[in-house]
Amino acid sequence: MMNLLEAMKQRRSVRSFNGEPLSEACRSALTGIIRESSSPFGGDVEIRLKEFDARKGFRPVTYGMIKGACDFFLVGFGDGDAAALSAGFRFEQVVLRAWQLGLGTCWIAATFRESDFGAGESWPAGVKLKVVCPVGTAAGKSIVERIARLAAGSKNRKPFDKLFFYGDFSHPVPGSDRYRESLEMVRLAPSSTNSQPWRALVAGGKVHFYCRPNSRWSVLDCGIGLCHFYETERFHGRSGRFLTEADAPQPPDGWKYLSTYIP
Ligand SMILES: Cc1cc2nc3c(=O)[nH]c(=O)nc-3n(C[C@H](O)[C@H](O)[C@H](O)COP(=O)(O)O)c2cc1C
Repeated sequence: MMNLLEAMKQRRSVRSFNGEPLSEACRSALTGIIRESSSPFGGDVEIRLKEFDARKGFRPVTYGMIKGACDFFLVGFGDGDAAALSAGFRFEQVVLRAWQLGLGTCWIAATFRESDFGAGESWPAGVKLKVVCPVGTAAGKSIVERIARLAAGSKNRKPFDKLFFYGDFSHPVPGSDRYRESLEMVRLAPSSTNSQPWRALVAGGKVHFYCRPNSRWSVLDCGIGLCHFYETERFHGRSGRFLTEADAPQPPDGWKYLSTYIP
């Protein structure tokens, strides 16, 4: 099985599937992965795996974006930044491990009909279904998938030096810095319409994370980036933690402070 860093480097969104339901073995592996996923940021998050039986003619509406998927994750979470950050952080753990198992996924926050996916589901108070995600074996890319990827500029990522800074917000992170690789993995993370709202400042041996919001999913996106960072640190046996610092460096206008990683 490929390791988690390879999964972060190779993963792409998959929107065309082979039409087969998950095997029982895959289903139970994914259920275990959901159970083990965790987040230090608080808030209420619930992740479920649901089969939609296409043979009975039921196809939930994804506005043509997703083809041939029978199984979907449903991700419900509460209002507020903590829950959004946790949902990104936890569900990306599932996405990466699914990729390691050879299964494709695609985070879907906009192009789904809530009433189709939410039918028959009840959620804890304050939790709402906000993301769905097909999971299964990839088929060749469809025309719609090619167009979706092109429209979102999915292959592109912003340059490292436009996202991550050292000491203050005008200096680049040196090539030799110990956080360089973990931040590079943030850069590769998926985000809604590939908007990449994550920003970070390395200072005093810590990493301060910020969000430069550009949609209502920006904090969720940042949770995904933080997951890549944390998983890379853990991969190398480093067990730092995230804290909220009252005196974190003041970011440029419009950026929101999220959390600080302490080694
Ligand atoms: C929170 C979130 C929401 C997304 N919502 C949609 C969506 O509604 N429809 C869609 O086709 N893709 C959606 N995507 C997939 C992104 O367009 C994709 O991750 C991005 O373009 C980067 O491409 P990649 O995942 O192949 O690296 C979403 C991704 C994220 C992280």
